Amino acid sequence: MAMDSGTAIHRRLFLMGASSFAAATAWPGGAGAAPSPQQFQIVAGAGRWPLVDTAHKPTGVWCYGGQIPGPEIRVRQNEPVRIVVENRLDEDTTVHWHGVRLPNTMDGVPGLTQPPIKPGDTFTYEFTPPDAGTFWYHPHADTLRQLGRGLAGVLVVEEAKPFPVDREVTWVLADWRLAPDAQIVPGFGNAMEAAMAGRVGNIVSLNGAQREEVPVRAGERIRLRLVNTSLARIMALRFENHHPVVIAVDGQPCDPHEPDGGRLLLGPAMRIDVVLDMQGKPGERYRVVDDFYPDISYWLTHLAYDDRAAVEPGTPKHPLALPRNPLPEPNLDQAERHVLTLQGGMMGGGMMGMGGKAAWAINGKSMTGDGHAGMPPLLTLNLGRSYVLTMRNETAWWHPMHLHGLSFRILSRNGRPVPYRQWADTVLVAPRETVDVAFVADNPGDWMLHCHVIDHQMSGLMTVLRIA
Ligand code: C2O
Ligand code: CU
Ligand code: CU
Repeated sequence: MAMDSGTAIHRRLFLMGASSFAAATAWPGGAGAAPSPQQFQIVAGAGRWPLVDTAHKPTGVWCYGGQIPGPEIRVRQNEPVRIVVENRLDEDTTVHWHGVRLPNTMDGVPGLTQPPIKPGDTFTYEFTPPDAGTFWYHPHADTLRQLGRGLAGVLVVEEAKPFPVDREVTWVLADWRLAPDAQIVPGFGNAMEAAMAGRVGNIVSLNGAQREEVPVRAGERIRLRLVNTSLARIMALRFENHHPVVIAVDGQPCDPHEPDGGRLLLGPAMRIDVVLDMQGKPGERYRVVDDFYPDISYWLTHLAYDDRAAVEPGTPKHPLALPRNPLPEPNLDQAERHVLTLQGGMMGGGMMGMGGKAAWAINGKSMTGDGHAGMPPLLTLNLGRSYVLTMRNETAWWHPMHLHGLSFRILSRNGRPVPYRQWADTVLVAPRETVDVAFVADNPGDWMLHCHVIDHQMSGLMTVLRIA
């Protein structure tokens, strides 16, 4: 996990929006000394994007590279990456590489791990991703507005050996609260919402647009990377007449399995990779439904089969496991145990008399905002030691709890062992549920642990774990 700072700069890969405000910056060609980092440049700025349809004026957004979602950055596992972020917003920003086990100084938390990137400035992120998988990037400054207005993109770390499927597809799902004129409704950070489910919107986009259908061909096998970049919306996706097989969660491979009830539960910030065999009939359409909130279930899109006959199976038609990432196995017998109690919110014994902007707390303490200097760690963990964290949700609300810088194993829910003991960086904790997770504290630094319903994070459901 050491940071590689190669001196040679090669113009290997270059990502930049085609929009008018994204002017190209040339990389000087370096003299060829290895290792040669994978180079990217992304610009954060304001833009317009047709989220709804052509009958509406494009939505005013904030975005990376002039597009929604931001450019999909693809890199190779174990090879150095260098990403220059330029801030063309009118306010400070940072970029957090969600789920990547990287050096603390590259984690993108303003004040805590780096100074914020001022308007007009750039910051260079350099790290070597140890894990292959589906990750994503987003701001960690003014996060409610910056993420809520569109700043999000996917970071794919490719396996050394390509996974055998016919096609790979990424679906970046995002939730928007739009007015009838298709413009974003202002008023982020409403205190009442913050004490409830957070800002859930009224439009869900798939790769930057509402999509009636997605074209597929009978017989093909797809690796589908699902990413929920919403501020608050939890999703439960069902593929009618299809049987997606989960092969990875939060970038970390798992034993291939069909999800409970065929529903893929995706809290904010969570990712699921599935293998999807196109077993439908040529010419037919099948709905993809999100029914997490039963009274407002909706179809996200349709799998639309073209008329061609089924392709011959080019790959073996049984689900294949992805190679595991090099995660250290926690020693549960010797692990030190800590309880984190999630408190607050409406209907959870009131607002607990928490003053100011706080509606939530962890172990009685409310850290608010996006991150800042001098946040006192709740716990100091010993480098290299195993830990079990019990997250006890005393509230009446769901919380996708996210830990920066590490991945953890989900051991149990309400004391009952969970099948597959999945690795994750974000675990969705149901109201009144208790979840045990375990990990080896192998990455030194101050790491945030917070709810990824951003309203909850901003209003107190956040803390810091120090590993030293
Ligand atoms: Cu994606 Cu601090 O989070
Ligand atoms: Cu993160
Ligand atoms: Cu929450």
